[in-house]
Amino acid sequence: MRKQYIAIGVALLLSLVGVSLAQAGGPPTDNQCKVCHSALGSDTVATLDSGESISVHVESGAIAGSVHAALLCTDCHRDQGAQGFPHKPIVASSARLFTLEMSNVCRACHEDEYEKQQDSMHATAQAAGKTEAATCVDCHGSHDIQVPDQPRDRIAHTCAKCHKTIYDQYASSVHGAALLGEENPDVPVCIDCHGVHNIHDPTTARFRVRSPRICAKCHADKARMAKYGISSQVFKTYVADYHGTTLQLFDPAPDTPPRQAVCFDCHGIHDIRRVDDPETGISMKKNLVKVCRKCHPNATANFPDAWLGHHVPSPEKAPLAYYTAIFFTILTSAVMLALIGHIILDFSRLVIKKVKS
Ligand code: HEC
Ligand code: HEC
Ligand code: HEC
Ligand code: HEC
Ligand code: HEC
Ligand code: HEC
Ligand code: HEC
Ligand code: HEC
Ligand code: HEC
Repeated sequence: MRKQYIAIGVALLLSLVGVSLAQAGGPPTDNQCKVCHSALGSDTVATLDSGESISVHVESGAIAGSVHAALLCTDCHRDQGAQGFPHKPIVASSARLFTLEMSNVCRACHEDEYEKQQDSMHATAQAAGKTEAATCVDCHGSHDIQVPDQPRDRIAHTCAKCHKTIYDQYASSVHGAALLGEENPDVPVCIDCHGVHNIHDPTTARFRVRSPRICAKCHADKARMAKYGISSQVFKTYVADYHGTTLQLFDPAPDTPPRQAVCFDCHGIHDIRRVDDPETGISMKKNLVKVCRKCHPNATANFPDAWLGHHVPSPEKAPLAYYTAIFFTILTSAVMLALIGHIILDFSRLVIKKVKS
């Protein structure tokens, strides 16, 4: 019964607007697009070749409440606008192809983002036929587009639509918990490590070599780390360590992925925990040895003892290294002084000899 009324309503509306359209002879005005499409029920559909149907109901105020409040329907729907009503049928044969086609309209006004997107893993995947890879409309929506990074956790939720497993790991990490729970602006969200429109393959040698510098952007920042009582020396000490010293940190195009440990081999990637986490914390020896064994398979329980970690040698931590360093500093200075003294004495004897003769 109710359905019948709606159907009659739609028919009336179509005839009213439709007749006035026919009388005017031109394409519908923006207001007519809005009035008709918000009045159409969600059961009014366009049917595609694939057999799928998409509802043509458009919430009234969807555009007005979006970043595109100033746009007309026809700024994006050129075909339907120019052609008037009844519209020509959708060309795309499936709903997904329709979305992909509609993603191309964004380019007209956002060339920069389009160019970057072309240079991304998502575009590469699209080109390889993985039509499920992200396009403009997947991440931003179509009509109700909002500022994409406000609030900041909107970004993580955007990626979560397709990368749910990684999102779940991230949500439970020290970084994710701070962002999602506290809106903390100091911790990284997906795009701080991956970029936005030009997301590259993160499993390449190039990404691996660069990765310590991604972490260092924040972890070597004294002011940012002081707020959390976390050492800002972790990058410096890493570079001084066996692993960091031999990693070609600034090699722009390494051929093979380096084998040395980078930050995320020890700390995890999306599941980074506090180092003193009671379950998985790597300040505990039993957890740490497991990490070392990934690459040093014969490591014994005491293997990490010989390693300084992020500690700068001090009388409390690594006294041997500390005093050895001091000893060698004194020794080197003494040798240098003796050498210089020797040269001065030698030289003055030569001068005295010259003067006397
Ligand atoms: C910023 C560009 C933009 C504007 C402005 C815009 N649209 Fe759309 N529209 C899109 C995109 C993109 C899609 C495809 C969405 C999808 O496939 O998920 C779409 C899809 C549609 C559809 C198909 C059903 C659907 O929702 O997928 C209808 C109907 C539609 N738009 C009507 C309108 C009307 C009416 C207006 C004006 C009130 C309007 N659009 C304004 C971009 C826009
Ligand atoms: C008299 C009501 C009416 C008006 C006015 C109207 N439409 Fe539609 N529109 C429909 C109906 C009904 C459909 C679904 C059936 C169809 O495809 O024709 C539709 C479908 C669409 C679609 C889905 C694709 C397609 O071709 O089926 C888009 C996009 C669209 N309209 C955009 C617009 C735009 C933009 C305007 C204004 C320039 C507009 N419409 C004006 C009734 C209207
Ligand atoms: C006819 C031009 C036009 C088209 C087509 C268009 N946009 Fe926009 N877009 C704008 C304008 C103008 C603004 C507001 C000014 C600004 O912030 O750059 C804007 C703003 C945005 C913003 C917010 C920017 C910010 O800084 O907060 C996003 C996101 C966006 N558009 C995405 C899209 C997507 C996705 C599409 C395709 C579905 C699209 N736009 C199609 C003109 C357009
Ligand atoms: C993988 C998801 C994703 C895809 C695909 C994507 N965007 Fe974005 N976009 C974002 C996020 C997240 C931001 C917020 C960036 C920030 O805060 O630095 C953003 C920001 C923007 C902005 C605001 C200005 C800027 O550059 O920061 C515009 C405009 C925009 N996108 C348009 C587009 C267009 C057009 C496309 C398609 C060519 C597109 N986006 C594809 C996620 C995406
Ligand atoms: C609409 C779904 C979708 C959304 C939304 C999306 N992605 Fe993707 N993403 C994919 C698909 C599909 C691939 C290709 C996977 C493949 O090649 O096997 C991919 C690939 C990637 C890759 C490369 C992975 C690899 O295996 O090499 C990264 C990194 C990535 N996405 C990050 C992001 C980030 C960050 C966001 C949010 C800003 C995001 N994605 C949003 C679907 C999506
Ligand atoms: C602190 C930096 C950081 C953050 C934050 C981050 N990632 Fe990653 N991500 C990485 C690194 C490093 C790798 C590569 C690890 C490797 O070599 O396997 C990676 C790998 C990936 C991959 C490819 C996985 C695979 O196995 O092929 C995807 C997809 C991805 N990240 C998506 C995301 C998404 C979605 C988010 C947000 C929820 C996110 N990342 C947050 C650093 C980060
Ligand atoms: C070989 C393993 C290993 C590598 C590589 C490594 N770490 Fe650590 N990291 C540890 C261990 C073990 C601890 C806990 C004990 C300590 O502080 O030495 C730690 C502690 C930390 C802490 C906590 C410090 C504090 O004050 O609480 C941060 C932050 C950190 N590391 C970041 C990094 C960053 C960033 C990199 C890369 C530049 C990195 N780590 C490389 C093993 C590693
Ligand atoms: C955008 C800045 C930023 C980036 C990039 C970043 N971090 Fe962090 N990280 C933080 C902040 C801020 C905290 C403190 C969060 C808190 O305590 O709530 C933190 C906490 C940590 C901790 C926990 C320290 C502890 O308390 O035990 C570790 C370990 C860590 N990060 C490792 C990494 C690694 C490894 C990378 C690179 C793969 C990285 N971070 C990238 C900002 C960042
Ligand atoms: C991702 C692999 C990887 C992980 C994880 C790793 N290492 Fe290493 N480590 C290496 C490689 C490769 C070298 C050789 C570096 C070089 O000289 O180029 C090395 C060298 C060393 C050396 C120098 C002596 C030697 O055997 O060559 C010590 C000591 C060491 N690592 C300790 C540790 C400790 C302790 C841990 C755990 C906290 C650890 N490593 C975790 C890959 C790793």
